Amino acid sequence: MQATAPMAALEAVQGGTLRSFAPAKVNLYLHLTGRRADGYHVLDSLFVFARDLGDALTIEPADSFDFALTGPQSTALSGEQLSENLVARAAFGYWRALGRDGEPPLKIVLDKRLPVAAGLGGGSSDAAACLRAMAGLFGPLADDELLALALHLGADVPACLVARAQWVSGIGEMCEPLASDWPGLHAVLVQPAKALSTPAVFKARRQHDLFRQPVARPAGMADPLMWLDWIAEQCNDLQDAASELEPSIAAVLKALGRQDGCRVARLSGSGASCFGLFEDVEGSQKAVEALRAEFPQWWLGATRLM
Ligand code: C5P
Repeated sequence: MQATAPMAALEAVQGGTLRSFAPAKVNLYLHLTGRRADGYHVLDSLFVFARDLGDALTIEPADSFDFALTGPQSTALSGEQLSENLVARAAFGYWRALGRDGEPPLKIVLDKRLPVAAGLGGGSSDAAACLRAMAGLFGPLADDELLALALHLGADVPACLVARAQWVSGIGEMCEPLASDWPGLHAVLVQPAKALSTPAVFKARRQHDLFRQPVARPAGMADPLMWLDWIAEQCNDLQDAASELEPSIAAVLKALGRQDGCRVARLSGSGASCFGLFEDVEGSQKAVEALRAEFPQWWLGATRLM
């Protein structure tokens, strides 16, 4: 295994244009510990982020608000109203929270590379990347104001603001980043080219209405092999419900699980994306080549989860 490598800076400025990276999110495990009166589920989860698989926003000053989509996955969003788009909602929400009127004077281009409605947190990560960029351009909000805005945009958005390994609880608002004890893990992400609605998966899971106690979190565990063993003992409580709605998930998990060196194969979030964890980068890269040859219709990539 390689030594710990930090996530590259998420924001960069080039010639007056701000670029903000929106990495894919993966739930290494996702346990449901309860349900609130408003129907939202209470989670216990370990969120990690792909070092080099994600969307990107470019933002530059303009006279009025302008939003455009590019990239291989952009067609899935092209029919969306601007008022529904999470990036535009994040930009307008931040602008209003600053006490400003009118529209934010920005041209934003979203380069959409992550599959939509995939359980990889793409929309949430895009919104969070926009919030980080707004903070860089116009100054910070108070912490509680930023958290409320992020949570209003989506339950995963607070974690995506931090965009590195963290324990997440509540409905997504309680985030505790891991310190130096997160080694990063080599992974393959696979989406069987099927969008799955998050509310539909949570609704299907309600029929089983079983909840757990939060797991004891390991402390000071920096060895990646020990992390692989520990993660293998956990699970994703949405996996059965998602697999009933989308049978291709079972095929993805089977294909990942039979790759040499795959130590864990599991659904991420509400799916349909799955991930495989490998001991080393060679294992993850070989698996991507083999899966790409056998299942050319699947979206997939190798990455390091940070
Ligand atoms: O917050 P977000 O828009 O991502 O959530 C989409 C839907 O997923 C919610 O309307 C809810 O049905 C379900 N959900 C849930 N518990 C969570 C997160 C999402 O029940 N913690």
